[in-house]
Amino acid sequence: MEQYAIKGGNPLVGEVEIGGAKNAALAILAAAAMTDETVVIENVPDLRDTMVMLQAMESIGVQVERENRHTVRINAKNIRNLVIEDDGIKKIRASYYFLGALLGRYKKAEVALPGGCNIGLRPIDQHIKGFRALGAEVRIEHGLIITEAERLRGSHIYFDGVTVGATINVMLAAALAEGQTIIENAAKEPHVVDVANFLNSMGASIKGAGTDVVRIRGVQKLHGTEYTVIPDQIEAGTFMFAAAVTKGDVTVKNVIPKHLESISAKLMEIGCEVEESDDAVRVVAAKPLTHTQVKTLPYPGFPTDMQPQITVALGLSRGISIVTESIFENRFKYVDELTRMGASIKVESNTAIIDGVAKYTGASLTAPDLRAGAALVTAALAAEGVSTIDDVNFIERGYEDFPQKLQSLGAQIEKVNTERELKKFRLKTG
Ligand code: EPZ
Repeated sequence: MEQYAIKGGNPLVGEVEIGGAKNAALAILAAAAMTDETVVIENVPDLRDTMVMLQAMESIGVQVERENRHTVRINAKNIRNLVIEDDGIKKIRASYYFLGALLGRYKKAEVALPGGCNIGLRPIDQHIKGFRALGAEVRIEHGLIITEAERLRGSHIYFDGVTVGATINVMLAAALAEGQTIIENAAKEPHVVDVANFLNSMGASIKGAGTDVVRIRGVQKLHGTEYTVIPDQIEAGTFMFAAAVTKGDVTVKNVIPKHLESISAKLMEIGCEVEESDDAVRVVAAKPLTHTQVKTLPYPGFPTDMQPQITVALGLSRGISIVTESIFENRFKYVDELTRMGASIKVESNTAIIDGVAKYTGASLTAPDLRAGAALVTAALAAEGVSTIDDVNFIERGYEDFPQKLQSLGAQIEKVNTERELKKFRLKTG
């Protein structure tokens, strides 16, 4: 038993430091294996997923040294083999970045088929299409994706849909291909830009990241670098919505406010005050929340990774709200859990129709995936009474020190391992 025990009702108040972006760091770690020189990466969040990536790198001979909790020194001079299939890696999605990274550098890679959160079908056809366009063969055998090429040649690739993973993966491989690659309909997420900046700091030539068209001129070799990962947009957004649902006043620090604009805009629409400064955003929820409509979209639209968090807030907002999920088809599984807390939400295919209620009540909950798990924590913080949340390992894949950061804002939350500890928590919190 490993669960969060949460006593709701305290408004979150104070300041919280946001860590490095998980989804940028995962790709950047894989990309660090593309040179035989040393790469130092700062602001790497200390999470299960980053640990799994680093272990997978060590399993093929990459030297990994932690300079401190958030800085890693990586040297991939002595890679022994190009097969990545340890148990941990099968469970995470970002494992696919080793395909692009190793294909680029060694013209060959074998990686276990990616896992990740169960939020719907997560095909990799666009990644495969991209590698093939660069001249690689791709096949799936015994649970591994195997890709190899005699030579990689730049190409013109038009993605059928906007995909973060395939945009980054093709950038990785194309960075070391011969000639120019043009990616059209590219994803524009901040972490796509961050990975491009990282590769450029290693000597790659990538232009246009952050727009629909990315141009990559292949170079022969990449070199060592020192790089700092951008702040995590979704961790910041989660704390911003936690402030909203608990009627709090929270400043998220060490963020890039521009990356949070779609989130800030929705918070203002539902009645919060949002103040931006250079590297911080303050959310004050002094008034009752009101209803709105939102549809998840690729950046700069409202992120799918914030969909459960806004749904939790709209469940407590006056009036009828509508949330449409347009990226993943199975991302409303947590609604059953919210219903057990008193929410009134009806899901019809990819749309949730939410009739706001005055309060949630504490319940025994299970985190169905990473973001939904974090959203349930925010619901529990707003609820009357005590909630427990199981399967917190999902949450810990993406949020570093989540209970501690929430405690520092005045939340009553603890990770408990036994019935006895839970009982103690209940007694302590009255
Ligand atoms: C990344 O997933 C993130 N994961 C996800 O974060 C995030 O939700 C998602 O991007 C969207 O922002 C990582 O970075 C490790 P996509 P990814 O390729 O790369 C379809 C979290 O909570 N598609 O942008 O898998 C796909 O099915 C996680 O941190 C294809 O059809 O997302 C989806 O509908 C969850 N074929 C859409 O594109 C492909 O080959 C967007 O997927 C690839 C994707």
